[in-house]
Amino acid sequence: EAIYRAGVSGTRPRVPTDAAALRAAARRRCSRKAWAYVEGGAGEGATMAANRAALDRYEIVPRMLRDVAERDTSTTLLGTHLAAPLLLAPVGAAGLVARDADVLIGRGAAEAGVPYIFSCQGSSPMERTAAAMGDAPRWFQLYWSRDEELVDSFLARATAIGAGAVVVTLDTTMLGWRPQDLNLGSLPFSQGIGIAQYTSDPRFRELVRARTGGPARDVKITPAAVRTLLSISREHPGRFLDNLRSPIPRAAVETFLDVYSNPALNWDHIAGLRERTKLPIVLKGILHPDDARTAVDLGVDAVMVSNHGGRQVDGATASLDALVAVRKAIGAEYPVLLDSGVRTGADVFKALALGANAVTLGRPHIYGLAVGGSGGVADVVRNVLAEFDLTMGLSGVASLDEITPDTVVCR
Ligand code: FNR
Repeated sequence: EAIYRAGVSGTRPRVPTDAAALRAAARRRCSRKAWAYVEGGAGEGATMAANRAALDRYEIVPRMLRDVAERDTSTTLLGTHLAAPLLLAPVGAAGLVARDADVLIGRGAAEAGVPYIFSCQGSSPMERTAAAMGDAPRWFQLYWSRDEELVDSFLARATAIGAGAVVVTLDTTMLGWRPQDLNLGSLPFSQGIGIAQYTSDPRFRELVRARTGGPARDVKITPAAVRTLLSISREHPGRFLDNLRSPIPRAAVETFLDVYSNPALNWDHIAGLRERTKLPIVLKGILHPDDARTAVDLGVDAVMVSNHGGRQVDGATASLDALVAVRKAIGAEYPVLLDSGVRTGADVFKALALGANAVTLGRPHIYGLAVGGSGGVADVVRNVLAEFDLTMGLSGVASLDEITPDTVVCR
């Protein structure tokens, strides 16, 4: 209502209220390399397009005369209360877009009242982001490291910052084929962006020390180090002093590249995870119904149907289509989240109609960050949720459990 009132009184919104204009505004604020990383999909972009095509293939069939004066968008997921069925997806290396990106996103999420899933490849240590969010809900996303002690260290830190769940991302044991970044020669990690969870970790520092024979923070001002600093500063003007004060040693980047993932990851790791953490466990990147069944059998708490926003396997199935198959395989009660391609309140409605308990939003919150910092993140969320609430009301449903499969048709 506040958004409408502002519109009626002639106040223009801080961030555009439609997805295309928001994306265009964000693009204008990003460097070429930042945009390539954020926006880029895998390969030729077929899966990114499929994600949208699937959402567009379903149509809402509104019902009339159902008294929708009082609507309730709230739900509870794994013990986390959600004012609306939406969380912010983990996005690594958002520091390419704004300084202190994760802290700003965390504040924006807290302001808008949605949980934020911290990326394992975040741009601030999780403790800093958590501190900026007060008591607002946060989850932690884990990339399973080759180094099992590092996995335990991340789990312990996630528990200490009050994470409501650990989200294990399964689809990125190797980075996908990302032509936009490759063509610009600009994978972010080479510049030390997106490795803050690592450089702030005691176990990781041990690994760096073992590699260099010296303390993790030691950096020699060699010509190569100066070149690295200058290249970071060209991409991120104004950060030269930051980088001088706290330079990322080359050895830390190299150690990171060695340990950030584990292509040998398999179901045995997941089976053993319950022994290693008390946090609810979510598996992110499930697309095949049999994988969802195995997750249920292993006592995993929820699955997140996702193709990583089309960034991993080009040609992979659209995430909404996978959701339909997954929901069918595991029955009505088991918690399922969905992401990849969700842009609007109507999209959220369709995802719920097809069996999601909640969705997560990836690129759109980064667009908000680019356009308006933490307020931009909050506004993007508010816009999507305002449209979701309207879509519910205008479609004749007053609560989430009324968003059943028969509220949509497949074209
Ligand atoms: C991601 N994603 C991601 N996922 C994850 O588990 N850990 C991560 O560090 C990242 N990093 C990341 C960076 C960027 C720039 C993007 C765009 C995405 C995937 C993310 O969590 C989510 O699955 C997708 O972004 C959802 O698709 P949409 O909403 O971007 O279409």
